[in-house]
Amino acid sequence: MKEKDHIAGAVLHWFDQHGRKDLPWQKQRTPYRVWVSEIMLQQTQVSTVIPFYERFMAQLPTVEDLAAAAEDTVLHLWTGLGYYARARNLHRCAKQVCDAHDGVFPQDLTGLQALPGIGRSTAGAILSLAMDTRAPILDGNVKRVLARYHGVAGWPGQRAVSDALWSHAQHHTPRARVADYTQAIMDLGAMCCTRSRPACELCPLNSGCTARALGQQSDFPGRKPRKEIPLRKRWLAVATRAPGEVLLQKRPDSGIWGGLWAPPEFDEAEGATEWIANTLSLSPDVCQIDAAFLHAFTHFKLEAHSVRAHLGANRALGNRVECAAGSLKWFSLHPPPSVGLPAPIVRLLARLSAETALRSD
Ligand code: ADE
Repeated sequence: MKEKDHIAGAVLHWFDQHGRKDLPWQKQRTPYRVWVSEIMLQQTQVSTVIPFYERFMAQLPTVEDLAAAAEDTVLHLWTGLGYYARARNLHRCAKQVCDAHDGVFPQDLTGLQALPGIGRSTAGAILSLAMDTRAPILDGNVKRVLARYHGVAGWPGQRAVSDALWSHAQHHTPRARVADYTQAIMDLGAMCCTRSRPACELCPLNSGCTARALGQQSDFPGRKPRKEIPLRKRWLAVATRAPGEVLLQKRPDSGIWGGLWAPPEFDEAEGATEWIANTLSLSPDVCQIDAAFLHAFTHFKLEAHSVRAHLGANRALGNRVECAAGSLKWFSLHPPPSVGLPAPIVRLLARLSAETALRSD
């Protein structure tokens, strides 16, 4: 038997000495706890996820609690993690597990993958980590380990590359100690086989690694073809009123900030000014435009300008707004509202809060 064909023994031996065993989702390992951790860990680092995960579990300890929670509560617990479609799918999925499966997660790949937001790798992680059932995973860390070890060239977003990596992942996943192996291969990617400057001298797979033999670790896995990142300019209609409230609108469920609360957004400054003037019965001259802020998304950069108007003592004017549109609401700025807010809007509200605290009206 060639070493190249079977890596599980060496990976598990390394894990026993160096692997992570005290992550919060490794305690009381249930499908619910593992599932929530896997969704949070998609595109987000372990150190960022830990406090969000602890807070989420303290507030929503079971799948029934999550299913019964208000969407605003779930999005609030997600505020700062980004990629909010993950939170909306998480909520939908919990409802489906409760309604269609009596609160018990399916115990096979097909059943798990039929749930919202659960792909092949997440399903494999739930089966292996929470149920000790043999199923491969292929997250970013594992892709890197296997692409380097086997010298699989090309970008894993391409079907043929992904198929080759899945086939290696399936082959290496052992029957025994599958939970430990799954954690181990992820840890190896995160701790040893890092994207830049991998610690090959400490790696249990170094003698059989193709990329290392070629001295081409940084070429594997192949990179996504680069595309120009477009810049989108938007104008936010930011209305505040005494003694420290801001008018926010709940976004429709689809789209980048779906389900989150933010000031209404327009393609042109005039749109925002007119909206404020009409909605609050103000003259457009009272609006002022603040310096823009930039926010980077995966597919575009946002340059957002705030068109500002403040209602002073005459706050009764603003009350009409509540009747006009159900998705609009005045929120207190201190403390900030407990609903889902995009990270740049959290920063904007903090600035407004500091400014309105200084106003005398
Ligand atoms: N990334 C995805 N799943 C993980 C896990 N269980 N531990 C650490 N990092 C991960």
